[in-house]
Amino acid sequence: MIKSSHDRGVQVIELNRPDKKNAFTGAMYDQLREALIAADADASVKVILLTGAGNAFSAGNDLKDFLQSPPESADAPPFAFLKALAGVKKPVVAAVNGVAVGVGVTLLFHCDLVYAQESARFAFPFVALGLVPEGASSLLLPRLVGHQRASEILLFGDPISASEAHALGLVNRVIGDQPVLDFALAQALRLTQLPLGAVARTKALLKHPAEVQERIQLEAEAFVERTQSAAAKEAFSAFLEKRKPNFSGLD
Ligand code: COA
Repeated sequence: MIKSSHDRGVQVIELNRPDKKNAFTGAMYDQLREALIAADADASVKVILLTGAGNAFSAGNDLKDFLQSPPESADAPPFAFLKALAGVKKPVVAAVNGVAVGVGVTLLFHCDLVYAQESARFAFPFVALGLVPEGASSLLLPRLVGHQRASEILLFGDPISASEAHALGLVNRVIGDQPVLDFALAQALRLTQLPLGAVARTKALLKHPAEVQERIQLEAEAFVERTQSAAAKEAFSAFLEKRKPNFSGLD
């Protein structure tokens, strides 16, 4: 479900569950966290590149998993993964080759360069699922776009096109004329030519690790509570049964 391969100093990590749009299971979060930690510690790796298999980046958390085994603590696999990604010291480049939903988009806040295929679509559907945002997106999205725009994006969760994501500042560049992975790999290879110490120090200076880790924790606590709610259970069941949710009487 996670494929990791080395290419000239770049560790290419692929979310690989294309039949489910690379939706994350608990095991996938654990595998990805381990792959990130291993790449960060490996002296032969200078840059990490994240991408998805098939025509999706990631459809977010697997909703069947959420219904059957919801996260029980702020250390559960989704949050342990997000904390590990936010702590990676080497540069992380993302090649967003299709839909990026839920944690598939919030993880991008912890990538340093984000490139998107023109066909990519982004969405933060947390509230309509009865949930709250995670991955420090409640801190980093308003910082990027302002409170009102962040509220609209986080409350309604409407899909955002690649060009809109670029205008918001979530994406560095929209790629239309070649596979985004090729462009992202070329940029990652450019990074490998720079002094790694200066790259890592610059990344550290750009980030605010304590504040981000604290927000991931705070959101995780609220998220765990919300995954147990009747509204969330109704939303997950509705998705799996391919029907609209009915929230009447539920909060
Ligand atoms: N959890 C579990 N299964 C998922 C999934 C998810 N998050 N996202 C997609 N899938 C499954 C679908 O159920 C479908 O499975 P099936 O072929 O067995 O019916 C398969 O992946 C393909 O998805 P489909 O919905 O047919 O693709 P699409 O291109 O029409 O739409 C999405 C793609 C991502 C817009 C849509 O699948 C979606 O909204 N997924 C849920 C996203 C979400 O809410 N994530 C959780 C955020 S916290």
